[in-house]
Amino acid sequence: MTRVSRVAWLYIAVVAAVAVTVIMPRHTITHDLQWWFQLGVLQLLFLVCEATPTPLATRQSAWSPSSSATLAAVVLLGPMGAALTGAIAVISLRRQLMMAERLFNGAMYAGSGFAAGKAFEAAGGVPHLPQPGDFPAIIWPFAVAAAVHVVINHGLLWGILRLTATGARPGDRTRLESSVALLLTSDLGYAVLGLIIAALWPVVHAFAAVLVLIPLFVARWAMGQFAEQQRAYAATMEALCQAVETKDFYTRGHSERVSRGAGMIAREIRMRPDRAEAIRYAGMLHDVGKLGVPTKVLQKQGPMTEEEYAAIQLHPMRGLEIVREIGFLDEALTGIMHHHERLDGKGYPMGLAADEIPEFARIIAVADAFDSMTSNRSYRRARGIAEATAELRKQAGTQFDPAMVEAFISAVCRDGWKLPDATAAPADRHLVTAQDHDDPTAPLQVIDSALGPGRP
Ligand SMILES: [Fe+2]
Repeated sequence: MTRVSRVAWLYIAVVAAVAVTVIMPRHTITHDLQWWFQLGVLQLLFLVCEATPTPLATRQSAWSPSSSATLAAVVLLGPMGAALTGAIAVISLRRQLMMAERLFNGAMYAGSGFAAGKAFEAAGGVPHLPQPGDFPAIIWPFAVAAAVHVVINHGLLWGILRLTATGARPGDRTRLESSVALLLTSDLGYAVLGLIIAALWPVVHAFAAVLVLIPLFVARWAMGQFAEQQRAYAATMEALCQAVETKDFYTRGHSERVSRGAGMIAREIRMRPDRAEAIRYAGMLHDVGKLGVPTKVLQKQGPMTEEEYAAIQLHPMRGLEIVREIGFLDEALTGIMHHHERLDGKGYPMGLAADEIPEFARIIAVADAFDSMTSNRSYRRARGIAEATAELRKQAGTQFDPAMVEAFISAVCRDGWKLPDATAAPADRHLVTAQDHDDPTAPLQVIDSALGPGRP
């Protein structure tokens, strides 16, 4: 939770008030010491799980298996016990949590625990120490309780994320959505551990919580390693993009915007999530081959010689050479190598045509050209979105894949497009690029030493 606005505070207050008013008046305090002992153990389990969340690929979200404690309480103690187990989140051991977060988490977990307990009873479950004869009949009410718990938890979580994610970077929303899907699946899976704790309790008593903690922490370590790997990938991307943009000032931010545009197309054509992630990598690195092109060629003012133009045309191959050993790129390599192919076969480096061009490359070509046209260049002002989309349509079928063009335009019409900030020229203005090889409306000017300026 990065920033708490007044609206977010109001949301938290409403969630807390509803949790308190729904839960508290309905129940009398029990004097059964066994009940209180079980509650104490489950609250302890909840706190331990909640204090050691596993960060996911984005730093905005973390995963905690604490729902296993709440759902064990549903079976062993009923709605009130589940609510009190979740409410312990208010005294979370994570010292960095702000008061607003503690209050929200406590109210959210208490409310979802109570609702899960009620759903368990409504589906025919009776809170008590389960016996072997209770199986398999107990599975149905437990499944209902787990589903209710997950839906309420994530519904409330989604609300607070919407109200506090205003400072998120472009692209974070997509990653956040994929993290929420992962959290939903994880929570449903770990809900089963709640039933295992309850089932083990009559046999090993409080030690049931310890038995469950061991596999939980092994799983946590494995997920932590995965998240660390994802962050290492992201750092690799950023370092390479930074190197490219340092070499060619006017393309600052271009890689990230192409990555975003390619991701929008991937979502629009319902690409598989792992491929959609790969195409975002391809978008980020599509021009990494510029590192292998002499800087004086990239930054040249005026027409190029044929040799210089040949050097530019080599950048997709140079890009492949630079990143081909990075294992996680896989299919992204095809996008990097072929993003300047054209549907009519007049592109480079291999002159592929139509379906010979890999899907990743056809997608990146559209996002690449659109961002180039809507960015300022030293030789022209940026075009507007309407003008740039009209140009894409004009070139569809010859340069671009019409299906990808229409997918991109639909996504832009629905989600909008964040234009780049006006590019300020650096102090050494004479060293900035005067031509953009991605701009379909202004082909690179190439001269033959004998014939003078001509087309590329
Ligand atoms: Fe390129």
